[in-house]
Amino acid sequence: MNPFTASEAHALATTYDDIWLVAGVRTPFADYNTALRDVSPTDMGIYAARALFEKSGIPAADVQAIIGGNMAQSSFDAYFLPRHIGLYSGVPLPVPAVLVQRLCGTGFETILTAADHIKLGKAQVVLAVGTESMSRNPVAAYTHRSGFRMGQVEFKDFLWEATKDTAPGTSMGDTAENLAKRYGISREDTDRFAAESFARGCAAWDAGWYADEVVPVTNATWELEGYNPRGLKLADRLQSFERDGHVRPTAYETLAKLKPAFKGVQTGGNSSAIVDGAAAVIVASGDYVRAHGLKPLARIVAGSSVGVPPEIMGIGPAPAIRSVLAKAGLQLSDVGRVEINEAFGAQFLACEKELGLDRAKSNVHGGAIAIGHPLGASGVRLTTTVSRQLKAAGLQYGVSSACAGGGQGVAILVENAA
Ligand SMILES: CC(C)(COP(=O)(O)OP(=O)(O)OC[C@H]1O[C@@H](n2cnc3c(N)ncnc32)[C@H](O)[C@@H]1OP(=O)(O)O)[C@@H](O)C(=O)NCCC(=O)NCCS
Repeated sequence: MNPFTASEAHALATTYDDIWLVAGVRTPFADYNTALRDVSPTDMGIYAARALFEKSGIPAADVQAIIGGNMAQSSFDAYFLPRHIGLYSGVPLPVPAVLVQRLCGTGFETILTAADHIKLGKAQVVLAVGTESMSRNPVAAYTHRSGFRMGQVEFKDFLWEATKDTAPGTSMGDTAENLAKRYGISREDTDRFAAESFARGCAAWDAGWYADEVVPVTNATWELEGYNPRGLKLADRLQSFERDGHVRPTAYETLAKLKPAFKGVQTGGNSSAIVDGAAAVIVASGDYVRAHGLKPLARIVAGSSVGVPPEIMGIGPAPAIRSVLAKAGLQLSDVGRVEINEAFGAQFLACEKELGLDRAKSNVHGGAIAIGHPLGASGVRLTTTVSRQLKAAGLQYGVSSACAGGGQGVAILVENAA
């Protein structure tokens, strides 16, 4: 029996007829506190957007709306993030920008909001950018504006605190442990899956798969006439950062030796890596695509968001994927490639069991355990990469999906544009 029928019944789902994911790129993802540690999410987003315009040949001047996605405010000018991404990537000054947030579903939300803009007739060409600096998460206090009582200092590590859901009183890692118990997933299962994620990620990098998706990051300065310049500087005097930092050969035996992070099956090796990075896509109407003779990556067929119990938030992709398929009138067997964000190894495995997924079709070039999970950027990465996979393998349908803290799931169904 499907335990998530209520979640599916309440799904926020819609289909799109003639809306296209035209092109997408991302930065390499840098391990926490390494190459991108000093770069604000705004600057990573600007970098990704500029690279996207250059690579796709789509003029920034054609963009009519900007959708930014970001979770942690990681610079003092954080409020201006989507606006500055537009201005400094060359989008005309009068074009408005908005920020969206659905926790780890944020990147997907940028694409779905872009598609909604087009469906509603507000715009024909939309720039969607997901970006996250985990390294620049602040050490923060919320109650000290008027001082503090002796010994009552509140300053805390936001990066650590923010992954605890205060409703159930459960950290994100513990939600994965809850799924491990519920679905009978062992430490060995989780480590073996993580080893596969690392192996697939390494193989894909070595085979050149990511060359067409990941743009090397170099130091940059961006001028904007009449305004202050801004730019990007890599850490440790690096001149260039080219490859996902966390993707490295990792044997099962190595993973099996790591200490539990949350008193169960999850460790630092079989959980999503904490990384910095940004990803950008152009979403456009069919009219724009045809008028400019573009060859898009994929058609956006449908999107869905669902709610699930917060204490098992990681199962979100199961009802999200079921509901997006139902909305489009398709079955899982119609889908050739699936990308589910690997927030935690046991969380992916629970979704795999719940949906009856075929491992050979899922996360085929490695997932967030190897590549990393920069919260606001992951959905853009996953939707771009699954679209590229359809083209490469000549398959028709693909799904990208993630769970989100607080108990949600989001999924996007795409169709090969070939
Ligand atoms: C699970 C988590 C708490 C672990 O954090 P951590 O304890 O700082 O993890 P580390 O990166 O230090 O890894 C722990 C150890 O494993 C080792 N390790 C991690 N990945 C490894 C790999 N691929 N190969 C070898 N060793 C590895 C580290 O070197 C470290 O070893 P050490 O203790 O000897 O220094 C953290 O990764 C996490 O919270 N991830 C999920 C983030 C999240 O919640 N995202 C939102 C999802 S909803």
